[in-house]
Amino acid sequence: MSIKGFRGELLSLSHDPAEAPDAVQHEADGLLVVEAGRVVARGAFDAVSPRFPGLEVEQLEGLIVPGMIDAHVHYPQLGRIASHGAQLLDWLERHIFPAEKAFADPAHAAGMAEAFLDELLRHGTTSALVFGTVHVASVEAFFAAAEARGLRMICGKVLMDLGPEGLRDSVEEARTESEALIAKWHGRGRLGYAVTPRYALTSSDAQLALAGELLSVHPGVLLHTHLAENAREIAEVAVRFPEAEDYLDAYDRFALVTDRCVFAHGVHLPDRSCARLAETGAGIAVCPSSNFFLGSGMFDFAQAERHGVRLGLGSDIGAGTSLSLLHNGGLAYQAGLLGGYVLDPFRALWLATGGSARLLHIDHEVGRLAEGQEADFVVLDDAATPLMARRTAEASLAERLFAMQVLGDDRAIRRTYVLGRCVWEKGTAHGNA
Ligand code: GUN
Ligand code: ZN
Repeated sequence: MSIKGFRGELLSLSHDPAEAPDAVQHEADGLLVVEAGRVVARGAFDAVSPRFPGLEVEQLEGLIVPGMIDAHVHYPQLGRIASHGAQLLDWLERHIFPAEKAFADPAHAAGMAEAFLDELLRHGTTSALVFGTVHVASVEAFFAAAEARGLRMICGKVLMDLGPEGLRDSVEEARTESEALIAKWHGRGRLGYAVTPRYALTSSDAQLALAGELLSVHPGVLLHTHLAENAREIAEVAVRFPEAEDYLDAYDRFALVTDRCVFAHGVHLPDRSCARLAETGAGIAVCPSSNFFLGSGMFDFAQAERHGVRLGLGSDIGAGTSLSLLHNGGLAYQAGLLGGYVLDPFRALWLATGGSARLLHIDHEVGRLAEGQEADFVVLDDAATPLMARRTAEASLAERLFAMQVLGDDRAIRRTYVLGRCVWEKGTAHGNA
């Protein structure tokens, strides 16, 4: 791809704004220069454009932000979003396990992977940390689809030797299948692998130990699982692991708490767990729409900030109710406020971009609009509905961003770019697909 400029309003965060007050990088009239899929310059149009005489420049109407990064999502659960009537453990049995059984079929998995990636891009999400199912076919299908689209994605086969009939592997299958998937896909183009025990209750001690072993012999892979989401789940973990100090410690005993570990939820954490997360550099994918939907509780932002726990933002589809990380940012604000914490709109955007990128160890490639980064970005429309247009007219940048988080969702995504190429445009042929 040749060199090209994108002119418009640019916004990204260089750091977590809770740690660095000058983290907001904003140009009302900016220029992003992209060559061979990477950003080679970013700044005010008047300052940057003289460095690139003769540059082809496309004017973009809207607010240009980094592509969003979903730090926890289940692609096989897309079709079960909005399933009624139960908290976590019953919801899994009633709605989710039956749906996941279908992913033994490669054709089904391939179709769902395409549908899921269409939805992600339509919602402005360009990277994600993704659960497959226990079936190798589910991960093969996902990686093949992501590779064909040139997306930066991380996925893994679910380990669950204590799972229900038809959705259960063995320790040996978990080992050989994970090893084969890592050898084939990890580090191939923009793809990465995550060792993915479903959660403490669906893996035997031997399988949890295997997960720790895989993590230590493959230092580049991530560990992706669930932690302290729901009261009944936590009580069952305490019974199963009586020697553990708390839920996190049950993982720690199997060497599953390191800086490469991403835990979804962490809604009910004792201070000891937060201190241990901070000490090791492990982090939490905060999933507010899921926590509201399953009645799990609210993430405690103040507690996490006190301890310095790394955070990213996840949709957790199908327990989550929206793939939009804008919308999940708005719900994170509401969850925070219920606990007395006021989440700044710029920090919510950071969680969905640079925060998730750091959590997933891909921050050297994506998450910011900066020289050297891959050119995944999104054009937001702060007037996507008449009410949004009314609320954002004459408003400050912070107010406009907050209005998009509270009132917006996929409707506020005008275009999505991957490696400098438009892969989604609202209202066009592929934008209507
Ligand atoms: N805990 C174990 N499995 C799951 C799952 O599929 N979704 C959520 N939200 N929590 C889980
Ligand atoms: Zn989940």
